[in-house]
Formats: sequence, C-alpha cells, structure tokens
Amino acid sequence: MMCRSVGLLLVALGWAGCGCRGFSVPASLSMTESSSAQGGAVPLISVAGGSGRVGRLAVKRVLEMYPEARVRAVVRDAARAKDVLSEELTSQRLEVVKADLSTAAGITAAVKDCSAMVWCATSFSDASAHSFRKSWAQRSPPVQRIFNLAAFLFNPDNCLEAKAVPAAAAALAANGAPPYRLQAPTPAPVPEQPPKKGGTRPSLGAKGGSKGGAGGGDGEGVLPRFVLLSSAAVTRPAWSAAEKEEFKAAAQIPIVKLNPFKILDLKRKGEEALRRTAVPYTIVRPCGLNDKQAPGRLIVSAGDVAAGRICRADVAEGLAACLSEPLATAKTFEMFALPGLSKAPVGPPIGSLPTDAQLSSPDALQAVRRGAYGLLSQLRPVQNFDV
Ligand SMILES: NC(=O)c1ccc[n+]([C@@H]2O[C@H](COP(=O)([O-])OP(=O)(O)OC[C@H]3O[C@@H](n4cnc5c(N)ncnc54)[C@H](OP(=O)(O)O)[C@@H]3O)[C@@H](O)[C@H]2O)c1
Repeated sequence: MMCRSVGLLLVALGWAGCGCRGFSVPASLSMTESSSAQGGAVPLISVAGGSGRVGRLAVKRVLEMYPEARVRAVVRDAARAKDVLSEELTSQRLEVVKADLSTAAGITAAVKDCSAMVWCATSFSDASAHSFRKSWAQRSPPVQRIFNLAAFLFNPDNCLEAKAVPAAAAALAANGAPPYRLQAPTPAPVPEQPPKKGGTRPSLGAKGGSKGGAGGGDGEGVLPRFVLLSSAAVTRPAWSAAEKEEFKAAAQIPIVKLNPFKILDLKRKGEEALRRTAVPYTIVRPCGLNDKQAPGRLIVSAGDVAAGRICRADVAEGLAACLSEPLATAKTFEMFALPGLSKAPVGPPIGSLPTDAQLSSPDALQAVRRGAYGLLSQLRPVQNFDV
C-alpha cells in the first residue's frame, strides 16, 4: 500500500510538468520574528506560504496592487524568505513572520492584526521533487518529504488543508472587520478590451458598504478576507459514474486518476471547512501549474470542469485581484490562463459566476457544469486537457 502510494506520488509529482527553481538557503541568517501589532487603520494582508513558489509571487503582487497596504509573508524559514523575497524586502511595507502553520501558535502569529489573508501554503508540496530531478545531491529532502506525506495517509485531518485552513480563517474572522478595505479598480474595463498601459490600479478607500460577517453571504460590498489557493479537480474523485462519463475530459486527467495520498479529497475537505467559517472567503482553484507557460488572460469558470495550464505568476495575479473584488466573495472557481490573449481584468468574469450558495442545489450545479464544460471544451483540443 505504502509502496504503491509512494510510486503514485512520484508519478504525480510530475503531473504539472512545471520547471521549478530549487531553494537556496543561506545557513547563517537569523529568523525574523513578527514585527506586527501595529493594529491601526492600514490593512495588513498576510500571505501564508509566503516563500513558496506561488506565495512569493502573491507577496509581490499584493505589494504592487495595494500600495497602501502592509504585507506579511508567513514562512517557515526566514533565510529562504530572504533569498526568494530579496527584491520585495526592500519595501518597508513587507514583514516576514516565521510560523509553523501546523501549530496553533503559528496560526496566531500568522493572523495577528491582519485584515485579510491569502493562503498559499500546502502540506503537499512538490517543490523537492523538482530539486530531486535537478540534482542527485538533493535526494534526501524529497525522500524525507515522501515519508512526511505518507503520514497523512494515517492521519489525513492533520494536513494544513484540512486543519490549518479553517483554523486560520476562524482566527481571521475573530479579528473583526477591518476599519479600511481594499477597493476594486474603477471603472471596470470591458474584458474584451486590452487594458490601457499601466492598467487600473486598486486603491484603498474608507470602509463603505461592507457588512463584514459570514463567509456564506454574498452581500454587496463584502470583500473576501480569506483567499484560498486550492486546486482544480478537487471534487472530481467524488463524482458519480454518470458525472465522470458526462464530463469525461475533466474526470480522466492523471491527477484525478492517481489522487496521491487523497490530496484532492483533503483539499476539498479544507474548502468545505472554510465555507463553514464566518470569514468572507474566495476559493481559487488553478488548473495545472506550469511556469513554462507565458502569462496570459485569466479564464475563470465554476463547477470544477475546467482543464488547462497556468503559470504561477498568473495564479498570484488572480489571488491578489480577489482581495478587492466584492463579487468574488463566497465563490469558488477554477482558473487557467490563455497566453495568446491580452490581459484583461478578472473581476467582471468572476462577477458573472454563481456563488457557492447558488450552486448548493444539485440541479443548479449540473446546469453550470454543462454550460462551462461545453464552452471550455471549445478552447482546447480535448486530448490536451490536463490540470
Ligand atoms: N502542481 C500543480 O499543477 C497544481 C495545480 C493546481 C493547484 N495546485 C496547488 O497549488 C499549491 C502549490 O503551490 P506552490 O507551487 O506555491 O507550492 P510550494 O512552492 O510547495 O509552496 C508551499 C508552501 O507551503 C509552505 N508550508 C508547508 N507546510 C507548512 C507549515 N507547516 N507551516 C508553514 N508553511 C508551510 C511551504 O513552506 P516552506 O517554504 O518552508 O517549504 C511553502 O512556502 C498547492 O496547494 C497545490 O495543491 C498545484
């Protein structure tokens, strides 16, 4: 059983086929402890997994998009953070907090004084697998990592996805609604038009119509305060045989067939737990991460039938954009990118998607899936579909 799972993982680790850079960790650097507790009216946005491959790009994008906000990169290894965030750390607005998110103390440190959080951490990192392919000298960490992952077979609820995500969201909700909020870019350009040079930039504004409160609500003006990086395909292992047949191109991709360590089920559980918290949330489910793909237009859809590729920089852009998009609140959507198309604001397409509450009826969900599947199937040859 264990051998099979380890084998499956090794196969699955290459499923996105992405080229990833290994970490270089200077040995002598000391850890930076939290310098937060400023409180005050300036938004503080925490990025969990801030030294990870999406996380570091999310830190960069949030700093760029929200020039009056402070950003907290939550990391396990400050030396690695100093390496991968060297450019961003020239900003006075970035702080690095060392925290193990598998502990209550780590979650408290990550969330303290924050108004919003972008969650990019995962217990199922494939980062070392790429180091493994790069160098024989780096074999040990991936082997260790595989053993760590195997532990989740016996205690699945201990992974960050199932345990830490709802705990952090609940802690964030307990912080209360922030006195200021990030504002959506205005005016919203028409999606088909390429953005003007420089684009529109979100800015901070006094708190307006936000009522804060329940994550399940879709009240106008409520901004997402917890943006979760999840994954396309998390619902597919649980589809019925009829659904798998009807949406074959989505159901028959390798990650769904392999589902190593039940990663998709655990991520789905984490999503469900997040929806039950009181924090306004958005769940972003990227398709296959592939940093060899050039940045492109973000394509979003609901119903978990999407397939495609997206580079991590585009994922980070989508995550950061959600923070100022009230119409992203209480929604879950898949996301991939089309490099052939110019960039366009992702807010309007997100706005057209149904909320999770609207998809709670099986009939509504099925109708959305059929519509999305039919449309998305035209964008790429089915045989190239992959997440
Ligand atoms: N691969 C794909 O094609 C694909 C497709 C769709 C979605 N996804 C999802 O995308 C995410 C992967 O993003 P990525 O490439 O950025 O992953 P990554 O580079 O492996 O980053 C994972 C981050 O999680 C952090 N982390 C892990 N355990 C932690 C803990 N106990 N406390 C604090 N931080 C912890 C890691 O910290 P360290 O830096 O200290 O290790 C790292 O920063 C996953 O959720 C994955 O399921 C992947």
